[in-house]
Amino acid sequence: MANQKKNFLEVLKKHKPDHIPFWFMRQAGRYLPEYMELRKQAGGFLDMAYNPDIASEITMQPIRRFGMDAAIIFSDILVIPHALGQHLEFVQGKGPKLNPLRGSSDFSVLNFSKFQQILSPVHEAISLTKTSLKKEGFESTALIGFCGAPWTVACYMVEGGGSRDFINVKKLAFQDEKAFSELIEILVESSAQYLIDQINAGVEAVQIFDSWAGALDAQSFHKWVVNPTRQIVNLVRSQHPDIPIIGFPRCAGQNYLSYVQNTGVSAISIDQNIDTKWAANSLQSFVPVQGNLDPICLLTGGDSMVMAVEKIIGDLKDGGFIFNIGHGIHKQTPVEHVEKLCALIREYS
Ligand code: CP3
Repeated sequence: MANQKKNFLEVLKKHKPDHIPFWFMRQAGRYLPEYMELRKQAGGFLDMAYNPDIASEITMQPIRRFGMDAAIIFSDILVIPHALGQHLEFVQGKGPKLNPLRGSSDFSVLNFSKFQQILSPVHEAISLTKTSLKKEGFESTALIGFCGAPWTVACYMVEGGGSRDFINVKKLAFQDEKAFSELIEILVESSAQYLIDQINAGVEAVQIFDSWAGALDAQSFHKWVVNPTRQIVNLVRSQHPDIPIIGFPRCAGQNYLSYVQNTGVSAISIDQNIDTKWAANSLQSFVPVQGNLDPICLLTGGDSMVMAVEKIIGDLKDGGFIFNIGHGIHKQTPVEHVEKLCALIREYS
């Protein structure tokens, strides 16, 4: 069936959908046995992300099982520092490890000379996925591209990996604002280019993941989250004026409102700490809202999941709404709980 309605895009364009559209952050990944099987054969995480056939196959896996309204291209937010020349590896069971960049003099490793070339497998994976979606009968499934937001990517670049307290990156931001601005500017420019290239390759919406937005005070949030995000939105829109852009400043609390009012994003993804009643009253009048089941509630399943889903849908269904979870699917999540969640959302639609 050609020209089937893509409900996910309808909501982002502020039209009324036929049903509640849904997709889940990290819907591809380790909770799926078929992903684990492929990973055994394929080697490391980056090898998979930079192999267009494998990346496309992994993107398709959850769609075949659950038929979400959107697929998200399988990649990672850390491909940007990698493509800019920073050393990156994913250590099994430990997460990403980068050579930390602690100040201006360290930034000289970063350059644009091979940026688009290194990321070209992602663009190829996008066009392969578009073909597969069509060929396998998922005409109404949209394809999402993404990048990390400058603040969150800078956290990994400066810390050299994950962090609990972000001491090094905050030290840099607070003590040497000039140097930190330099890094953020490089990330604004590269992220915008990366999103534009993904849109040219065929994605129909993009999401900006700011996973550590909640680590900043209100003033710093404005400086390092809101301003760079607005710049990316403007750069992307200068090439693609109508592309839906979803922002996800995770754990930003009250700052969600200023983010929505000041960045120009088309929709907002909320984490599970946000009360859906508040989101309905304060955010949904500006933009459609995406969210926000606690991923651990999905892992647990049972009656508590049913009740949480009912509340989220009850509070948000009368405005622009895309069902999602508040953060990525946890690797220990039973596949049957994801099946049950999809059935519940369809039942309430
Ligand atoms: O949502 C999807 O299905 C698309 C793919 C996707 C991945 N990472 C694949 C991945 C997306 C959108 C991301 C975004 C991402 N990556 C974020 C932002 C969202 C968030 O979760 O906060 C961040 C902070 C990262 C950085 C990152 N990548 C970390 C900290 C880790 C290790 C932690 C972990 O979960 O293992 C990764 C690795 C990673 N990225 C995996 C996947 C499926 C696990 C790789 C594996 O071991 O197989």
